[in-house]
Amino acid sequence: MKLPLLKLFLALSALFGAHVSAYATPDVVNGKKIDQQKCYTCHAKKSGFGNGDMIYTRGDSKVKDLQNLKSMVAMCNTELRLDLFPEDEADVAAFLNKQFYKFK
Ligand code: HEC
Repeated sequence: MKLPLLKLFLALSALFGAHVSAYATPDVVNGKKIDQQKCYTCHAKKSGFGNGDMIYTRGDSKVKDLQNLKSMVAMCNTELRLDLFPEDEADVAAFLNKQFYKFK
């Protein structure tokens, strides 16, 4: 009885991915991979630090809370047409928070 329920849940997750991902546990390993593949190089260049991590830890960070962080990730994603899925956005935000921002 357990397995069909799980399958149903997975099917629903796929259908309502954006919605369900808000409740699913984010995958920080995937988030790290995305940051390295899609975000790091540009941040290294644009920030002038030559290090793509430092934009997250700079003194004049634009990110003051978790909501800010999510909107900055969303902004970079949509503005730059990086084509991340909502799940990937959530993963990368979770990774950045765990690694750098450490908001509660
Ligand atoms: C083409 C360049 C580029 C790419 C690619 C890019 N960003 Fe950015 N990002 C920027 C720039 C420029 C800023 C600084 C914006 C500002 O100061 O207003 C920034 C700022 C940010 C910030 C705020 C940092 C802070 O603490 O102030 C976050 C968070 C962020 N980006 C997340 C991401 C993520 C996640 C990705 C990859 C999925 C990504 N960005 C990809 C250019 C980029």
